[in-house]
Amino acid sequence: MNGTERLRVGVLISGRGSNLQALLDACAEADFPAEIVLVISNKADAQGLARAESAGVATKVVPHLDYASREAFDAVVTAAFEAAEVDLICMAGFLRLVTQGFVNRWRDRLINIHPALLPAFKGLDTHERALAAGVTEHGCTVHFVRHEMDDGPILGQAAVPVLPGDTPDSLAARVLEAEHKLYPQCLRLIAEGRVKIRGDSVAIAESSPRP
Ligand code: GRF
Repeated sequence: MNGTERLRVGVLISGRGSNLQALLDACAEADFPAEIVLVISNKADAQGLARAESAGVATKVVPHLDYASREAFDAVVTAAFEAAEVDLICMAGFLRLVTQGFVNRWRDRLINIHPALLPAFKGLDTHERALAAGVTEHGCTVHFVRHEMDDGPILGQAAVPVLPGDTPDSLAARVLEAEHKLYPQCLRLIAEGRVKIRGDSVAIAESSPRP
């Protein structure tokens, strides 16, 4: 990529696509250094597909049930992203486990957003579990994807308070608002070439090395 090109981004979704929307909105800004070139969903009825189409972004449905193995599914997804010449894949509410081969193929070019302050509350039902644990702070994490689920170098986190009377839904809504700010910020950092992965952690350069 040279200094004038925008980072080419692919997004993987399964549903609502509100994080995809936040990324689309950011990419619609004239000075944003990334563009979304392809959105892939494993579900034909994912609401996020309509969001991408409204933004004029190409979409593809790869129904996972059509494939006999995870490897076969991931190979089709990889081929589509390769054809679209993506530099980075953002997982945004993608409800499939990816294979080790997929993680290796896109190593350091595959990120995910998780609705908890990792390494706390990996997995599902994070808001219920945060309330049950009695934490006073909860939040979200954007991280590079590695072989373990919800693991990998942390690119950014945003914390929100847990308030008296919170329900899983009210807490989820507060976290989601933070997600919608965090994910575009993290994408910008990568697109500006400011992110270096050093072992298990991420170093962020102070300012953009790009002109
Ligand atoms: C978000 O909470 C995200 O952190 C998690 O799945 C949810 C997806 O929501 N991985 P949306 O589809 O982006 O609205």
